[in-house]
Amino acid sequence: MAVVTIVGAGVIGVSWARLFGAAGWEVRVSDPRPDLAEVVARDLAGLEVTATHDLAAAATGADFVQEAGPERTDIKEQMFATLAAHTADGVVLASSSSSLLPSVIARGNPAADRIVIGHPFNPPELMPLVEVVPGPQTSAATVQRATEVYRELGKLPIRLKKEIPGFVGNRLQKVFNDQATYLVQQGVVDVTDLDDLVRASLGLRWATIGPFQSGALGGGPAGMRHLVEHVGSQLTFEIGSPDPAGLGAVLDAVEAAYGTGEEAYRSLAELRDRRTRGALAPLDWPEPLAGAAEGGRK
Ligand SMILES: NC(=O)c1ccc[n+]([C@@H]2O[C@H](COP(=O)([O-])OP(=O)(O)OC[C@H]3O[C@@H](n4cnc5c(N)ncnc54)[C@H](O)[C@@H]3O)[C@@H](O)[C@H]2O)c1
Repeated sequence: MAVVTIVGAGVIGVSWARLFGAAGWEVRVSDPRPDLAEVVARDLAGLEVTATHDLAAAATGADFVQEAGPERTDIKEQMFATLAAHTADGVVLASSSSSLLPSVIARGNPAADRIVIGHPFNPPELMPLVEVVPGPQTSAATVQRATEVYRELGKLPIRLKKEIPGFVGNRLQKVFNDQATYLVQQGVVDVTDLDDLVRASLGLRWATIGPFQSGALGGGPAGMRHLVEHVGSQLTFEIGSPDPAGLGAVLDAVEAAYGTGEEAYRSLAELRDRRTRGALAPLDWPEPLAGAAEGGRK
């Protein structure tokens, strides 16, 4: 049985562990958190999982490593130094990082050729995408192996041609979230109406066709060129940017709407997962190539 070491048992690590475990991998989880045993018993019940505070021990003998520790360069550098020292040549060391450059995480690391970003969307066990981002030192074999593993897990790995902070998904998300915050701060819309507005429009649209595909349709038979000339030419307003000093008030509004704490988190995650599962089946994931052909990709 192939062995995966998951580094970090937080939001993302636990979900990766469930995904690998369900696909038949032997899962090892490493995290210094004192409640690691309780987390494993509660969130990974029924899976073959070994949990340890000792990263070196968890890494030894692994066939694949998926790191999901804190989003801090210094901590990632330390974790990857340990991983490099305790894994065999050829073992992929993939980081779930949302934004950090692989070249920075791999700085001075003797296994830089094995380090690659494998960035999921939350929760990895349900969302199809994994962004595969090589740094300049990442080997072609590492990219190939990581891509194969994610495909075997039923994911849609998309390989970026080169590294850039935030990759593609989170650069798009940053622009979008900044504007959402700005609109709430300006008193244009409240938090829950903005969420409903997006779910009922862009969210649903983008689950079925991408923004360029949508542009091709929005112009009618004349295509995106017509949309850009006709509607796009009038979108000349300044979009503004959120006031960092006012972020606290927006966070207060989000907390008032959705709550915080274990119970609120579990209940919201259950709602998201139920809806996501329902939406995934008719979208033909995880067979995106068949779906894309139907969608008119040449
Ligand atoms: N939360 C998201 O939506 C999301 C989505 C995609 C990717 N990511 C990325 O995944 C990674 C994990 O994010 P998260 O949201 O699960 O964070 P989290 O805070 O929920 O979990 C991080 C875990 O790492 C553990 N940790 C701390 N030091 C460690 C060490 N030295 N070795 C092993 N584990 C250690 C912490 O105890 C904690 O349990 C980050 O790089 C983040 O950017 C997050």
